[in-house]
Amino acid sequence: MDDGAAAPAAKPRNLGGSLPVPNVQDLAARPGDLTPQILGRYLRGADAPALSVAAGVGDAAVPVVDLGRLLDPEHGEEAAATLRAACEDWGFFHVVNHGVPDEVVEALKEDLKGFFHLPLAEKLAYKQEPGWVEGYGQAFVVSDEQKLDWADAFHLSTQPPEYRDPKFWPLRPPTFRESMERYSAAVQRVATELLRAMARNLGVPDAEKLTRIAASQIMRMNYYPPCPAAHDRVLGLSPHSDAVGLTLLLQASPVAGLQIRRGGGWMAVAPLPGALVANVGDVVEVLSNGRYRSIEHRAVVNAREERLSMAAFHMAKFGGAYGPLEELVGEAAPRYKTVSVEEYVKMVLSSKLEGKNILDAMKIDATSTT
Ligand code: OGA
Ligand code: NI
Repeated sequence: MDDGAAAPAAKPRNLGGSLPVPNVQDLAARPGDLTPQILGRYLRGADAPALSVAAGVGDAAVPVVDLGRLLDPEHGEEAAATLRAACEDWGFFHVVNHGVPDEVVEALKEDLKGFFHLPLAEKLAYKQEPGWVEGYGQAFVVSDEQKLDWADAFHLSTQPPEYRDPKFWPLRPPTFRESMERYSAAVQRVATELLRAMARNLGVPDAEKLTRIAASQIMRMNYYPPCPAAHDRVLGLSPHSDAVGLTLLLQASPVAGLQIRRGGGWMAVAPLPGALVANVGDVVEVLSNGRYRSIEHRAVVNAREERLSMAAFHMAKFGGAYGPLEELVGEAAPRYKTVSVEEYVKMVLSSKLEGKNILDAMKIDATSTT
């Protein structure tokens, strides 16, 4: 694919936004006002949160990749094999020994909690504006009819620094900006190392063809309030695959909620203390021409406890393009289109969060459902 164009210094504007929705934390705090009509917008029918996995499948545990070992010349081979199996068979894995200092993670967790616990009026100073995803609000709401997620979100462009918009960077808690900055840089390094190892595993000699999809980073902070009225009939986050390169998710509360699609059912990925959860995004599926597949996942909510998480989404800078890498297509036919990063982002932001819909749109044979 041709990625020759130089990336513009600033990110383009008006790539797409979301319809405004009620603030869920506020709704949850006023249960008396939660009328059946309001709750009805969140209640799911057939995709209510049953946890079921095909017999035998649920016994296998999500793989654990030790990044320190992966980078160690003595033990790298073994860790690379674990990573390969994790990418080919699971699309999801825990990353341990990742090198992001504990104190950086802990400070960030505190500041995330601190932000979401600010009074609503204060958080609304950072609210989303029409036409773009950044800020406090919710993404992927494209119609008044669609079912809503029982969560609030806060998106922030963090890398490269020239993509940042200071007006969305909270001034309270006072350490928020510093915590975010430190965590963001550390986690971008983790994403880059993982992509470099994936390039090696895939036999792509120029690792930059994969590491460039960690050149830019957007954080999505998720706040899932408890839902005593209907925790088993709402979803915190609709089933989706991540329309990015590589995601590193921090489960910032001890409460479980993340589930991945596996064996025809849903399997819980409980927080592993100190670990990050990595998942292969749609862009890796495209670049690898389907050798690695992005996996659908969702978040459920708890009846009594809040849950916080933060996804660090890594992608390419604007100015480039996404398409299958020649060396991975080989003699076969490309299975996905090549589109500019800008077009791709516009498509993502004008779509619902719904299964692997973005990849369906990227497939060259649009009739294929595999
Ligand atoms: C996401 C995501 C899962 C979670 O933000 O894309 O999948 O557990 N989050 O919050
Ligand atoms: Ni996700």
